[in-house]
Amino acid sequence: TSQTLPEPAAEIGVIGGSGFYSLLDDAEEIRVDTPFGAPSDPVAVGELNGRRVAFLPRHGRDHRFPPHAIPYRANLWALRALGVRQVLAPSAVGSLVAEHGPGTLAVPDQLVDRTSGRAQTYYETGAAIHVPFADPYCAAGRRAAVDAARDTGWDPVDGGTLVVIEGPRFSTRAESRWFSGQGWTLVGMTGHPEAVLARELALCYTPLCLVTDLDAGVDTGEGVTMAEVLEVFRANVGRLRALVGDVVTRLPAERPCPCPNALDGMKLPLELP
Ligand code: ADE
Repeated sequence: TSQTLPEPAAEIGVIGGSGFYSLLDDAEEIRVDTPFGAPSDPVAVGELNGRRVAFLPRHGRDHRFPPHAIPYRANLWALRALGVRQVLAPSAVGSLVAEHGPGTLAVPDQLVDRTSGRAQTYYETGAAIHVPFADPYCAAGRRAAVDAARDTGWDPVDGGTLVVIEGPRFSTRAESRWFSGQGWTLVGMTGHPEAVLARELALCYTPLCLVTDLDAGVDTGEGVTMAEVLEVFRANVGRLRALVGDVVTRLPAERPCPCPNALDGMKLPLELP
């Protein structure tokens, strides 16, 4: 850990997804340790459009962590320890809506958890902590993201429901049809438990979902492949990076949302960084 960093080191955290492994020029790399182990990678800390930003590639820069093995708790904890209070979370997702094909940017407002066996709380013992999660994402962050996307000509999908599957396999056609039949609009593998862990640390969390494919129940082709996902992500990562830079300038420094109060009145069994 560096001694020379300003205090706090960063205010905004960006967790890059598949194909999104770097963000900042001139960053300082910080190795952070947490009570939940090491994060996916050292955290890059630097300035982006006048804001102090910490960047962490969710899968590691060499993509060594598959979705079910990402150290989600360490990642969010490390960001908070560096001073981060607002998190932007780009990720590659499949679309469950035929009209929202590859290249679509979506900012969902709901989440369905279909994962299993992932550690999804910091508060396993010592106290009964139940955070509010009816609205899983930060309303102010979502507003900033949608406005920034519109201004950069992206025509984003504002709202919708992201279903997070356990993976690492993609869904069957029947599963996929079932998801879309429920009215769910996006499918991914990493949005949970990331969002709830952010809430458990009273952080703002805003998803930026890049559609890389139509999921199997919508598509009439052979089904989703990893190659397809990475190819579409590569083609769009430049403008996704630019979008993140724009959203960063629009995030309100004084958080006007309920997120900072998520833990009010609760007696936490551990001290937050
Ligand atoms: N990530 C990108 N595309 C996906 C899909 N179709 N299902 C689950 N996760 C994805």
